[in-house]
Amino acid sequence: MGPSPFIIIAIDGGAASGKSSSSKILADRFNLLHVDTGSFYRHITYELLRRKISPADHSAIIAALAEMKFATRLNGRSAEMLIGGQPAGDEIRGQHVNDHVSHYAALPEVRTTLLGYQRGQVAVARQHAFRGLVMEGRDIGSVIFPEANFRFFLHADPTERARRRENEGRQDSVAERDRLDSSRKTSPLHCPPGAVNIDSTFLSLDQVVGQMTTFIAAKLP
Ligand code: CDP
Repeated sequence: MGPSPFIIIAIDGGAASGKSSSSKILADRFNLLHVDTGSFYRHITYELLRRKISPADHSAIIAALAEMKFATRLNGRSAEMLIGGQPAGDEIRGQHVNDHVSHYAALPEVRTTLLGYQRGQVAVARQHAFRGLVMEGRDIGSVIFPEANFRFFLHADPTERARRRENEGRQDSVAERDRLDSSRKTSPLHCPPGAVNIDSTFLSLDQVVGQMTTFIAAKLP
């Protein structure tokens, strides 16, 4: 038997739909690099807010992005984005970033900057001898890796998702971020044709991951 083929799993979905928890478990189960692209958008947002650059100031955004030096380091199985050598702090999960991230993420300049960086995670995964990668976000199965081996789209009732965030002790405008993410012109949040749709409203995390695993295992050599 030859070496196993490199596999790419894309998981998209709205805020607090269960992407992170399920993709971390899949990463462990199948020896994959875990890539949380939301953390990249959050880190850039934090950095632009710190520099007091408004999303409306396109030339300042372009200049700031050109100046940022991006690198990746591993944190366990997860890819961590460094900007100017610095990892993101806990602030990227705070309310200030929650309130602004979708406005910066709607900018084509920001998305184009991250496109190459995200695709570059394949090289990171190979370099560290992972069997593949699982990448979570909003446009992974539609734009970043439309040819991924597996593409999942997670749904959950908005009330249930708001409840999940509250349980984590986090204040988050889940519905407002979904509205902005779904209505933007560039790479809006939607379930691409051919992706496997999972409604997790009444499912436990184990059940969601179980459905994904069954699907993946059935197609792996
Ligand atoms: O974890 P949660 O679902 O709250 O959000 P996240 O994955 O951390 O993403 C934060 C924000 O980044 C989203 O609301 C989007 O505005 C943006 N994002 C995006 O536009 N495209 C991605 N691939 C990932 C995140």
